[in-house]
Amino acid sequence: MIDGERLWRRLSDLGEIGRQREGGVTRLSFTDEERAAKDRVASYMDEAGLSVREDAAGNLFGRREGRNADLPSVLVGSHVDSVYNGGDFDGPLGVLGGVEVLQTMQERGVETDHPIEVVAFTDEEGARFSFGMIGSRALAGRLTSEDLAKYEDRDGVSIAEAMRTYGLDPERVGEAARPEGSVKAYVELHIEQGRVLENEGLPAGLVTGIAGPVWLRFSLEGETGHAGATPMSLRHDSLAAASEIMSLIEAEASATGTSVGTVGQLSLEPGGINIIPGHVEFSLDLRDIDQGVRDRVEGRILDEAVEICRRRGVEMGVETLQRLAPAPCSELVMDAIGRACERFGIRPHALPSGAGHDGMQLAGLCPMGMIFVRSRAGVSHSPEEWSTKKDCAAGCNVLYWTVLDLAGGG
Ligand code: GLV
Ligand code: MN
Ligand code: MN
Repeated sequence: MIDGERLWRRLSDLGEIGRQREGGVTRLSFTDEERAAKDRVASYMDEAGLSVREDAAGNLFGRREGRNADLPSVLVGSHVDSVYNGGDFDGPLGVLGGVEVLQTMQERGVETDHPIEVVAFTDEEGARFSFGMIGSRALAGRLTSEDLAKYEDRDGVSIAEAMRTYGLDPERVGEAARPEGSVKAYVELHIEQGRVLENEGLPAGLVTGIAGPVWLRFSLEGETGHAGATPMSLRHDSLAAASEIMSLIEAEASATGTSVGTVGQLSLEPGGINIIPGHVEFSLDLRDIDQGVRDRVEGRILDEAVEICRRRGVEMGVETLQRLAPAPCSELVMDAIGRACERFGIRPHALPSGAGHDGMQLAGLCPMGMIFVRSRAGVSHSPEEWSTKKDCAAGCNVLYWTVLDLAGGG
């Protein structure tokens, strides 16, 4: 059905944009690399005969008209930004898979009632600003000017400043919001980033919902001192307090069996070999598919962290960077994906997503669903991320039938 060779060639070519010496790709938002990736995708959209445009948040769209221009469009897509030294598949598969579906329809002269759009969202990963889903938030009407001013990258550049440098006007970001009822459904093809499908021996699967992340930043203020001259009993060591909190995070998240807690960023000052670290900052990414479980884990971590810091004479501050509710996928889209799997001879295996996706934002605007493709050894956010050509093609075929179903094709 779809052209698996073409999809694979485009995945490989896109993976060369932002390629690192360490083997992975780095394409942060509003950089030359993200721009180059979007330009490449725009050229594929052109080849597919789609009408191409970008919105006020930098989201790139390719549109194919339906029989009835007044009907809401079916939206497919994902993102082309990446984490630091990430893989070739997280994001590009959904964007290029969407282009492939529309190009196949174009080539076969397939008509649909609804228009269909494929989108490459701006900054899903949050690698640059520790925020993420910027484009999909804007589309869902959930991005505020406070967000654009508040979040800064490692060099102190705010999202608003980065947008201006990129040629976008942050004052106009509200124009990217789509009105309620203007999108019939959103479907995203993505690699699983886990091992469920591999264990089940299935190339693709049907997502039931997306776990909700809370991102926190801890700041610990203790006392800088001489590493040789300060007795252990008189120290207020911020890093020692942080390490105790990190062990606590691991223990509390593990105890539930479903929650996952990660400290991915850590910095300390002054940073000398013979100086007690007075100031430490670290992040927490805490997720669960059940919001109640996640919130109880968070509460226990914060209560115990306060106690640890009190005992050690260290001041603790906690800033919330983002707090998203888990997002269930809609019955409408799950049913269409289930039918598409069966049509293609794949047992429709249902599984939740531990990773976050643009669909979480879209869930507030329209019915949302996702198709997962088997990941090798479940590895992702790594240069080792891998899915086979055959599995990518199988997932894209499931996307084809799903979109045809939702868009009233035939
Ligand atoms: C993005 O992939 C995330 O889950 O944070
Ligand atoms: Mn992704
Ligand atoms: Mn990702």
